Amino acid sequence: MSQAQIIDGKVTAERLRAEVAEEVAALKAQHGLQPGLAVVLVGEDPASQVYVRSKGEHSKAAGMHSVTHRLPADVSQSDLLTLVRQLNADPAIHGILVQLPLPKGLDEKAVIETIDPAKDVDGLHVVNAGRLAQGLPSLVPCTPLGCMIMLRETLGDLSGKRAVVVGRSVLVGKPVAQLLLAADCTVTIAHSRTQDLAAVCREADILVAAVGRPQMIKADWIKPGATVIDVGINRVPFRDPVKAAEGKTKLVGDVAYKEVSAVAGAITPVPGGVGLMTVACLLKNTVTAAKRIAGLEP
Ligand code: GUN
Repeated sequence: MSQAQIIDGKVTAERLRAEVAEEVAALKAQHGLQPGLAVVLVGEDPASQVYVRSKGEHSKAAGMHSVTHRLPADVSQSDLLTLVRQLNADPAIHGILVQLPLPKGLDEKAVIETIDPAKDVDGLHVVNAGRLAQGLPSLVPCTPLGCMIMLRETLGDLSGKRAVVVGRSVLVGKPVAQLLLAADCTVTIAHSRTQDLAAVCREADILVAAVGRPQMIKADWIKPGATVIDVGINRVPFRDPVKAAEGKTKLVGDVAYKEVSAVAGAITPVPGGVGLMTVACLLKNTVTAAKRIAGLEP
């Protein structure tokens, strides 16, 4: 049986980061503009610490101005909002990202809505979500942007293709559906209440899985030759009882990778797929924000 082409997130993300670094160098040389990213981490969630470190390192490596603000888990809502307002007013900062989830007691929505939409490199502000829905220039959430770059690299023109997005989150499902629609796909958003989800998925030339359920999407849900983008990052125990007993875990996607690879035309692995694109797209969004704030692009 033929095997799907593997869409390699490492290679694609490296290329994107190199393009961003080139653009940063050109902005500095031609306009004296150094894109600046501020990342805010509240509390000590271990996964968030890893992500935030990676964002800081990659933004510096791309030649950006990069600052990380670490606040204690018991910071008050008003002190957090004060920091966001200071960053909004700081001319050296073009992108602001508040790492989620925030510790209990803090109002995530209020924090996100306080970020200047022009600096909202996460694309989570309602202004950016609304602009995306209306087809206006916006800052697009990083993971959906990464999915689209991988799809365009694999398929070229997406016009007329049937796309099914499984998952309706604000962070991934809804924005990726909007982007697919803007690329002239025929888009279905499926979710946990969808009837006969397998049959809906079998219609898809492009299947984007963003449900957060380990290996839920099986081989017989896939149209032969379809392109499968797996956004899921699920930590599960090893099947091997010895490793499981040692408490060892591994990362798997929302797609049953091995069996689906035998049917799909192309597929993103987990790990090594979409996840690696997210930070690269954050850098790209920061450059986009800096250029728009400086009036260099609409
Ligand atoms: N935590 C996990 N993913 C994300 C993301 O894309 N943005 C932010 N701000 N926090 C996250």
